[in-house]
Amino acid sequence: MKQKLILVSNRLPITIEKENNNFNFTPSVGGLATGLSSFSKTHESLWFGFPGINAENLTTDDKKIIKDRLINDFKSYPVFLTNNEVKMYYNGFSNKTIWPLFHYFQVYTDYDSETWKYYKLVNEKFFDELIRVVNNGDIIWIHDYQLMLLPKLIKDKFPEARIGFFLHIPFPSYEIFRLLPWRKEILEGILGSDLVGFHTFSYARHFLSSVQRVLGYEHIFNQINTSERSIKVDIFPMGIDYDKFANAPKDSKVKREISIIQRDLKKQKIILSIDRLDYTKGIIQRLESFDLFLTKYPEYIGKVTLIMVAVPSRTKVDRYSNLKNIVDETVGRINGKYSQIGWTPVWYLYRSLPFYNLSALYSMSDVALVTPLRDGMNLVAKEYIASRLNKKGVLIVSEMAGVAEELGEAMSVNPNDKEGIAEAIYTALNMSIEEQQHRIKLMQERLKRNDVFKWASQFIERLQNTKNIQEKLMVRILINEMKDLFLSNYKKSQKRLILLDYDGTLVSFKQKPEDAKPDKDLYKILEDLVSDQNNKVVIISGRDRDTLTHWLSKLNLTLVAEHGAWINRDGKKWEALTDLTTNWKDEIRPLLETYVDRTPRTFIEEKEFSLVWHYRNADIDFASIRQKELKSHLLDIVANLNLGIMEGNKVIEIKSLDINKGKISQKLVGEDNYDFIMAIGDDWTDEDMFATLPEEAYSIKVGLVNSKAKYNLYSNKEVRELLKELTSANK
Ligand code: UDP
Ligand code: G6P
Repeated sequence: MKQKLILVSNRLPITIEKENNNFNFTPSVGGLATGLSSFSKTHESLWFGFPGINAENLTTDDKKIIKDRLINDFKSYPVFLTNNEVKMYYNGFSNKTIWPLFHYFQVYTDYDSETWKYYKLVNEKFFDELIRVVNNGDIIWIHDYQLMLLPKLIKDKFPEARIGFFLHIPFPSYEIFRLLPWRKEILEGILGSDLVGFHTFSYARHFLSSVQRVLGYEHIFNQINTSERSIKVDIFPMGIDYDKFANAPKDSKVKREISIIQRDLKKQKIILSIDRLDYTKGIIQRLESFDLFLTKYPEYIGKVTLIMVAVPSRTKVDRYSNLKNIVDETVGRINGKYSQIGWTPVWYLYRSLPFYNLSALYSMSDVALVTPLRDGMNLVAKEYIASRLNKKGVLIVSEMAGVAEELGEAMSVNPNDKEGIAEAIYTALNMSIEEQQHRIKLMQERLKRNDVFKWASQFIERLQNTKNIQEKLMVRILINEMKDLFLSNYKKSQKRLILLDYDGTLVSFKQKPEDAKPDKDLYKILEDLVSDQNNKVVIISGRDRDTLTHWLSKLNLTLVAEHGAWINRDGKKWEALTDLTTNWKDEIRPLLETYVDRTPRTFIEEKEFSLVWHYRNADIDFASIRQKELKSHLLDIVANLNLGIMEGNKVIEIKSLDINKGKISQKLVGEDNYDFIMAIGDDWTDEDMFATLPEEAYSIKVGLVNSKAKYNLYSNKEVRELLKELTSANK
């Protein structure tokens, strides 16, 4: 069956309105819809979303007309929502909870369990519509904050589907995100995806940190490993349909529009401001800055006009309708203060403009003033640059917009700093043509290279890749057919060597090391294993001798402590494996102590042959900075001391290079003629052990990550199940 590409977002690229019993199909506004629609027009895909008209206003026939036209003309598939669903899920949870919170408008955020209920319900409704067309293996690309629960709903039902999720708005810092009572469900929902994309590095970092803190999943190189899958998180700054904007000013309709506006504005300088009317866009602050500019530089009175396009948006949400009143008043006040016969300082348009109109404004404005208080990306800034045919013009952009990270040549301002914005306007109006052209040229080249088509294809390509990596890992799992052979080899064999790491392998990783002592179930498993005369069972751990003796010496096991520095074959006497010196400790200990002082809740563990810095209880972001610092500090010192630095699970361990799990495993393997060898481990330190085992050995890595081991198991629960199966196989 052919693999399909399915796009899903709350808003479709087309919004439908009813007028005198006719339906108007108009292009939607907002970066998601405008950007993605260029891609969907040129690529085979089907786009699911809300058509903008409530279901109650439609008869069954109406719905059919809409559906047919959307499918045939716009490759779109409507998900109809009722008045109440729109009120609670869209106006409510999406736009009164997630939108303000994720844009750092904490005081605007409502926490209402009723709207949350509808958010879940509508995500399920999208799922119900999708399953009519989805097949396992299809690519499903879900967009934005209105549908964060959808990835998991799909993954649970179609584990083979390739699911991507892209967030078009900022992902806030953990300190903000944690305020959300439903933070856990939201993250679990997103993690149903195989690839999660953000516009900027900061958003991805905030997301990873929240996942770690809320769900406890670690990440390595932007990859999150849950017990079942690995999920890739990456950065894809969204581009625009560059050629469309760059070519439009040559179009006769656009040219005509330009000459009409020019006739009205004569030789005035034009400053352009275009947004949806949204409190995140900093519209009031922008107007006040323009007011300040005219006060500070009165010579511009009569010579410059601010054209402000504010597109009506989310008008049923109070914060938006209130904002509309304040914008109206502020524009009125400024125009009242400065207007002269034949000149109005602010041209205010409260409506959505057709493309040729928009393009005319972009191509004739001397300055674009884009000063959101927060913005995921902001495509208006990019569209302005692309539309500058003669390469003249200045972009003033807010530091708080994602786009500022990409367009370093723009003038950047703090959107709360009205003085700063007023000055920036002055500087922009006086910037030399050469400098304007130099800056615009660099930005245009970058935007042309990274247009929306490249953005989308890169995302999809990465999604395919992520799935391929996962599939390779899946092959590594001890699959059932393999397990039968494995069990029968175990049964047949007479002399078995079983090497088991302890933490993370037999017990789950614990916050406090002392909590990891063996429980009854584990004790019984180990007892059963050693009761078989044919088994030599070795616990091969990084722990110190005392802990292992205390926990395990009653069992007839061989114990290896400190990664192979010590061995205990009879539960009583420990032998050191090599002749090791420990003078180096006096040199390293003071250094570690400074790190303990500087990093609250970290501590040093002193083993006989090693020193360990533990940071599992510390603030994870802070500790990971310190950990990198300490590592580079240590690297300078250890080279001459024949010491190695081992990075384990939230620890850095310094020990002699002569000790590692590989050496002791090799020794144990050589001591007898084993016909069945198995080693299980989860940590980096176990890789040495896997690497030295003979070809026929069963080496098993716990966790779905690449490894020198031949096979993988998901979790320590599965390790216990496997060990139980081994002992019962022999009964
Ligand atoms: N836009 C439009 N008609 C208008 C004004 C704006 O189609 O009258 C488009 C604009 O071209 C841009 C999008 O709306 O592509 C706004 O996207 P942006 O990323 O700047 O902000 P968002 O609205 O997504 O927060
Ligand atoms: C932003 C959001 C989009 C949304 C758009 C317009 O760009 O990220 O998801 O579609 O604003 O808002 P609306 O509520 O009209 O869809």
